[in-house]
Amino acid sequence: MTSPIVAVVGGGQLARMMAPAATALGITLRVLVESPTASAALAAHQTVVGLPGNADAIAALLAEPRPAVVTWEHEHIPRDVFDACEAAGVPTRPGIGALVYAQDKIEMRTRMDTLGLPNPSWRIVTSVEDVRHFLSSHDGVGVLKTARGGYDGKGVRVISDAAQAAQWLDAAANGGPRVLIEEKVPFSRELAIQVARRPAGEVVPWRLVESLQVDGVCAVVTAPAPRASALLEREAWTIAATIAAKLDVVGVLAVELFQVGERLVVNELAMRPHNSGHWTIDGCVTSQFEQHLRAVLDLPLGATTALSPWTVMANVLGGEREQLESALADVTDPDAKVHLYGKEVRPGRKVGHVTVMGADLEDVQARAHAAAAIVRGGGAA
Ligand SMILES: Nc1ncnc2c1ncn2[C@@H]1O[C@H](COP(=O)(O)OP(=O)(O)OP(=O)(O)O)[C@@H](O)[C@H]1O
Ligand SMILES: [Mg+2]
Repeated sequence: MTSPIVAVVGGGQLARMMAPAATALGITLRVLVESPTASAALAAHQTVVGLPGNADAIAALLAEPRPAVVTWEHEHIPRDVFDACEAAGVPTRPGIGALVYAQDKIEMRTRMDTLGLPNPSWRIVTSVEDVRHFLSSHDGVGVLKTARGGYDGKGVRVISDAAQAAQWLDAAANGGPRVLIEEKVPFSRELAIQVARRPAGEVVPWRLVESLQVDGVCAVVTAPAPRASALLEREAWTIAATIAAKLDVVGVLAVELFQVGERLVVNELAMRPHNSGHWTIDGCVTSQFEQHLRAVLDLPLGATTALSPWTVMANVLGGEREQLESALADVTDPDAKVHLYGKEVRPGRKVGHVTVMGADLEDVQARAHAAAAIVRGGGAA
């Protein structure tokens, strides 16, 4: 048997980190990258350069020898791509029927309501008057979101004045993404739960994790989530398993959650490996990247057992240091696992992460933090 080919649309660090897992399994990773120097292009077995909206690029991705499956490393996939895959007889996992709920926050909120899963109060807004009305019944504050196209907090804005919504509402009226507003959830912290699901329905979860966001971007993930009761973790598993099954997700699903008292509220969904799961590369028997490949190829799922009592993942955002590889000589903590994405350093851009594992949570947190600060450069964090 020749090695199966998995085609991935998107050339960022998520596709890049699938490559070592694919290599280990003898799988050929064929990635559609935005440029020859994209993060994943430097690591994948085969690359096709182009954008998902380009029909020739998609044809090249699907060319003989045909991939066994097409999967995604981001949500911004045009409808035509699914049609091209179907015409070529190549399954898309997750399919458009599931992925739409990760693409579009209005579709997602509507579906969560239908499934009876915990949503914040929310509504679609098409006018400043709609926004004013919502704010007046929510203590004068709300979280305005574009339904599509946002990432790393870019389509999210906390507002206390309806006029602040005018720009996005105008854009929506002129063919841009629709706009919704949510109550500002008074959460004590943000959590995330990941599961992987095979086509026939087998679902395997990882532990519930805590995710600390700074300026709308994930900064630190602690696994498992400290001080989370068994009941809370079970509720998270139930929410994720319900979403995975009802939405027919195949592959890895991440559910971002808010904790409010002892309750959970769904924030958003991702149907691909996710920043909240990077800790699994070093911290678990089976990483999210290996598990995603296993799930989309309909292979038996691996164990998700954690290898250490605590694992802390600290993101490296672009800072002072331009050549991150020079940091390798400076990180002297032998337990710090450094992951660099091969991306050009720009301020605030996710360019790598560091993982540290151990038995003492405070020690592990401090060391992950310190190592990430060294990689970023410019002094202590
Ligand atoms: N309803 C809300 N109430 C309070 N805070 C919110 C709410 N919605 C979003 N936030 C804050 O904004 C952050 C980003 O929101 P969201 O996850 O919807 O944005 P995104 O840009 O699509 O996602 P990502 O950054 O995960 O790519 C959340 O992690 C949270 O900190
Ligand atoms: Mg988010």
